Amino acid sequence: MENILEIKNLHTYFFSDEAQVKAVENLNLKVKKGEVLALVGESACGKSVSAYSVMGLIDSPGKIVKGEIIFKGQDLLKLPKKKMQAIRGQDISLVFQEPGSSLNPLYTIGLQIDEMIRAHNKTASKEDRGKRILELLNKVGISNPQSRIKDYPYNFSGGQAQRIMIAMALSCEPKLLIADEPTTSLDVTIQAQIMNLFMRLRQELDFTLILITHNLALCSEVADRVAIMYAGRIVEEALIEEIFKNPLHPYTKALFASIPQAESKKARLKVIKGAVADPSAKPSGCHFHPRCPLAKNRCKVNYPEYREISPGHSLSCFEI
Ligand SMILES: Nc1ncnc2c1ncn2[C@@H]1O[C@H](COP(=O)(O)OP(=O)(O)OP(=O)(O)O)[C@@H](O)[C@H]1O
Ligand SMILES: [Mg+2]
Repeated sequence: MENILEIKNLHTYFFSDEAQVKAVENLNLKVKKGEVLALVGESACGKSVSAYSVMGLIDSPGKIVKGEIIFKGQDLLKLPKKKMQAIRGQDISLVFQEPGSSLNPLYTIGLQIDEMIRAHNKTASKEDRGKRILELLNKVGISNPQSRIKDYPYNFSGGQAQRIMIAMALSCEPKLLIADEPTTSLDVTIQAQIMNLFMRLRQELDFTLILITHNLALCSEVADRVAIMYAGRIVEEALIEEIFKNPLHPYTKALFASIPQAESKKARLKVIKGAVADPSAKPSGCHFHPRCPLAKNRCKVNYPEYREISPGHSLSCFEI
């Protein structure tokens, strides 16, 4: 299958007087056209920074210091700002992790969606844009949209606000949508509704989806493939069925062990021992070694090569 996106050797750092935060370090990831790829990892492992890097949204003190982001055959990092602006929203779109980053509390949602459409389609008439806004709100399941376009973000529930953000992200029919923790702030039933919405929209609109989440259970329902990220790198990658049947990297196994089991509500959620590696002072060798039950001396010295161990299943670990 053709790749829609290929991230090669990406390094995105944040610089301050005291530290150099290596948020993303040697990230390699291929996204196949039409798939749902889940990008999974604990807090601060670099998921959002990876998404912002693809979107061209890394600003000072952040910098992409090295790498390539190939989208439809061109390196986005080599494009002039104007061209990147055109791609952002039009070809690649992001549903932000923080609702506040997308919805402005001071403007009606109709106006905000209208702006999004106008930014990429300067010739559309007011009438056509109005029709499009209603169509989008309908698509994302806002009932009676005509009566809602003059409402402000605070007039909507968390789940509805998320739907509106998805409508905005889809307004220009992007080929690639990145959804950054799109359901984290929602309760479980609304989470399921939003995931169903994504799946329905994907069939209707035919886009590729990168779903960023720390919730492995959530991706089992919707993802085709999973990439597990730790301390700024991908440590394991496989088809969804394979990763559930046969997780291999000790970090992936630990993530699975930390999923609460519905049957044993009283059992305590197992936490992964130790803290996520500090991106300004990552452990030597394999960054997971201080938390890893299998770690040997060589794990403290060298970073294990990322290798394919069966078709489509890759990982970086010396001990597997
Ligand atoms: N603007 C910034 N300045 C300095 N450091 C930053 C900045 N943005 C992100 N970082 C750092 O980069 C690292 C990766 O952050 P990122 O937001 O990508 O994590 P994440 O995997 O999305 O986590 P979460 O699941 O909590 O959203 C973190 O250590 C974070 O503190
Ligand atoms: Mg994040």
